[in-house]
Amino acid sequence: MKHMIVILLLSSLLGPKWIHADEGMWLVHLIGPKTYANMQKRGLTLSKDQLYAINKSSLKDAIAIFGGGCTSEMVSSQGLLFTNHHCGYDAIASASSLEHNYLKDGFWAKSKDQEIPCPGLSVQFLIKIEDVTAAVKEKLKEWPAKQYASKLPGILMEMQNTAQNGTEFEVRISSFFKGNQFLQFTYLRYKDVRLVGTPPENIGKFGGDTDNWEWPRHTGDFSIFRVYTTPDGKASEYNASNIPFVPKHVLPVSLKGYKDGDYAMIYGYPGSTNRYETSYGVQLKTDIENPTLVSLRDARLKFMYNEMVKDPKVKIQLASSYAGIANYWKFFDGESKQLIKHKVFEKKQSEEEKFKIWAKDKREYDSLFNKMEDVYRDWRPYSKSQVFFREGIMGSPLISFAAGLKSMDLALSNPKTTEAEKENIRKQVLGGYERFINAENIASDKNILAYMLKQYVYEIEGKQTPGSFYQMLKSTYGPLQDEETYRRFVKNVFEQTMLLNKETFTGWISKPDTAALHKDPAYKTARIFLDNYQQSVEPYFKTFNAANFALNHLYQKGILEQKKGQEYYPDANFTMRISYGNVKSYSPKDAVKYSEVCTTRGILEKYKPGDYEFDAPSKLIDLIQKRDFGIYADSKHKDVVVSFITTNDITGGNSGSPVLNAKGELIGLAFDGNYEALSHKIAFDADLNRTICLDVRYLLFVVDKLGGATNIIQELQLKN
Ligand code: ARG
Repeated sequence: MKHMIVILLLSSLLGPKWIHADEGMWLVHLIGPKTYANMQKRGLTLSKDQLYAINKSSLKDAIAIFGGGCTSEMVSSQGLLFTNHHCGYDAIASASSLEHNYLKDGFWAKSKDQEIPCPGLSVQFLIKIEDVTAAVKEKLKEWPAKQYASKLPGILMEMQNTAQNGTEFEVRISSFFKGNQFLQFTYLRYKDVRLVGTPPENIGKFGGDTDNWEWPRHTGDFSIFRVYTTPDGKASEYNASNIPFVPKHVLPVSLKGYKDGDYAMIYGYPGSTNRYETSYGVQLKTDIENPTLVSLRDARLKFMYNEMVKDPKVKIQLASSYAGIANYWKFFDGESKQLIKHKVFEKKQSEEEKFKIWAKDKREYDSLFNKMEDVYRDWRPYSKSQVFFREGIMGSPLISFAAGLKSMDLALSNPKTTEAEKENIRKQVLGGYERFINAENIASDKNILAYMLKQYVYEIEGKQTPGSFYQMLKSTYGPLQDEETYRRFVKNVFEQTMLLNKETFTGWISKPDTAALHKDPAYKTARIFLDNYQQSVEPYFKTFNAANFALNHLYQKGILEQKKGQEYYPDANFTMRISYGNVKSYSPKDAVKYSEVCTTRGILEKYKPGDYEFDAPSKLIDLIQKRDFGIYADSKHKDVVVSFITTNDITGGNSGSPVLNAKGELIGLAFDGNYEALSHKIAFDADLNRTICLDVRYLLFVVDKLGGATNIIQELQLKN
């Protein structure tokens, strides 16, 4: 926060040539005069009303939440949208089979009747934002601060339900500044979304996990969908008679490109940041949480990869789950390294020292950090166990699904549960079962479970492990230090469970009898670890979480008092934000300078035929070698620009976000952050932070020249 204010001051003194990365994910409806003036200084030519308005259409109307955690933008008056390939990945994989492998070969609908419905996929548009702080605080007043963490979800849920019931909208109330402010967001969800186009995976994910979170970058990370509505324009489920959605605002697409230093602005839905994390939280992260998560994901990924390379069917089946696990495996590894390298722990400590001086005579903040220290000291011995439970034992898809059956078990055994409630639960479980069984790869799951069971007993403190389970293993299956012991046990679980037999399980659930469930070895194993976690770890977590929330709430309140009169932005929480900055090259280390763009030349340099990550379609290679770039080459670089970097402040959730020039025209799609600034969720680095963006002209080049989908190009509003 502090250095953001310094940036604002300095940049207004020195003008736009003095460029640093631009901290701040600004709420679209609360852009203050200083921030807006700074945007103009950076080059913006749009009025505030064009950025965001309630009563008439504005840029915000072209932006939609895509699926469960991405951003997308409307690019035609017929409901066409762009997002990232990694955002459409799950839908593309679900539409794929060995016969129609769209993941591998790509897909281009040459007319609307060829588009592919995507069940379960939806987009959401923001309708309005209201401040409900006073109403929430009124309800919170009844409770001591220590109970905020546990009471808040119920309070917000009730208010949301009251606001949305009987309307066509969905309402979500989000907490800002750690429970010091509350805003209510109203959304409209469209559930008929169809796949229109995707490049083959070796373009959409070119560079794989080796290049993920890194610059330079040559990934064509985009996919194209269309939103449909009922014939009278209402949001609805898929229906063959639906018609293309007409958005209130459509983004024009720029063919002109940009130069180093040009204005760039990103709209989107950043998921989470914790810029006010304390030194205690940073230390726990780098000491225990991140390394534990990374080592457990390492193992799971290895077991999955081994099966995926053997069989293309398994590759399609596990692709989406693998990509998700791998993405944050690399992120958390990089995050720890950068937190340590940038001395974030020490910086947080010195901020806390300054806060203590400011708060010296204010009784409210008395011994705030001493209490924080106590809370973290008490929780620390349990935190590894929590990660092991969530990422290790529950990293086995079978055990994770089985653990989810506990609430059904309890409801069925409860004489008060009505038949209607039972029916509802059955339906939910069946939905979950369908997803589980389709995604289940037995070979990798067995290896994951055997490995996790063994690591658990070796790495977790004795009192936090289910002792009688390991006694049983020892007496029935063999010595605990022997890997074969775990394999024998796991083999037995996988052979005997009814959860892996679709017929048996669906038969059972039509007339569920809890006695059979209690005997099931997968359910039994899940329950042992779940109950053990709930008894020996979770109570400590609840105590920690409650106290930590209350202390952070107070710390944040103090910071807000300090900042009174200044313009500041809240942490990301998957609500719509604007980030502004510039296209900008950077120097990642001494003697190295990174250009602001990557071109197709780099694709040829990285290209490795047959490689898992660096293969590319031969047609693409041909087009590049022949320099058959059509109208999409950049005049300065004499090549198609694949991607570029900007100083914008974004994070996960922004994937697919439009990158706009000073006039609000689309120049790219944000798709990643750079490795040197992976500590960005906790501390923004003004020198090194960059957003990695796909150049929209590479997107157009692939659609047109590789896919031959000129029908898509014709729908766009191209600007020369
Ligand atoms: N790092 C990107 C993001 O979080 C996702 C990239 C997906 N690609 C991959 N190789 N896993 O937005």
